[in-house]
Amino acid sequence: MKLTLKIWRQSGANDKGALVDYQLDGVSPDMSFLEMMDMLNEQIINEGGEPVAFDHDCREGICGMCSMYINGEAHGPDRGVTTCQLHMRMFKDGETIYIEPFRAASFPVIKDLVVDRSAFDRIQHAGGYISVNTSGNTQDANATPISKIDADKAMDAATCIGCGACVATCKNSSAMLFVGAKVSQYALLPQGQVEAADRVLNMVKQMDEEGFGNCTNTGACEVECPKGISLENIARMNREFLKASI
Ligand code: SF4
Ligand code: FES
Repeated sequence: MKLTLKIWRQSGANDKGALVDYQLDGVSPDMSFLEMMDMLNEQIINEGGEPVAFDHDCREGICGMCSMYINGEAHGPDRGVTTCQLHMRMFKDGETIYIEPFRAASFPVIKDLVVDRSAFDRIQHAGGYISVNTSGNTQDANATPISKIDADKAMDAATCIGCGACVATCKNSSAMLFVGAKVSQYALLPQGQVEAADRVLNMVKQMDEEGFGNCTNTGACEVECPKGISLENIARMNREFLKASI
């Protein structure tokens, strides 16, 4: 495949940035999108240029690092996949592909396609955990009976990988799908009840302080989420928030 790539290049947070054109030949349809980016970077380095900075780690849909906006969609045109799981067979020979960073005021660009998503870490630190007694008499988790329905819903919420596609996709840059998933995974389990009220109040407060927008129920986040996190989690977070506020 022969491709024209229009890639966002930005040397640093204070640089204005611009789309730069690259031609790439010999791309296999079986390559992953990141392998195609590696191939491009080798070409750029061989020509004496500065390679395109982009985030990646696991390359198997687990870590949530590979944040790219491809042809106007977070993680590109496929559904239920991250950028590292996207294959070049989703594109046509001769196609022009636009590649940009996730754009949101709370995710400032560090360089090229790399954005700072530490706002998500700070939201997690505000309450996305349960405190466990590790004094030696810790109860085995399996000793607490949990209904299959609740266990499955909690597991579904826990599959959120914190990639930020929901924020990048939302016209309001809302983080409510992410925070809803993180609140829900504990709200559905008995182990999460002790700190439930503090958790939701503190996480929502931190979310607001980080400058994320509000949810207006467009549902775009659910469509673009690579893990299929349901809007139901936002509704559950709102109920938990109301309960904790009262
Ligand atoms: S809710 Fe989905 S899109 Fe948002 S951070 Fe989690 S996995 Fe990514
Ligand atoms: S590199 Fe880990 S999810 Fe893509």
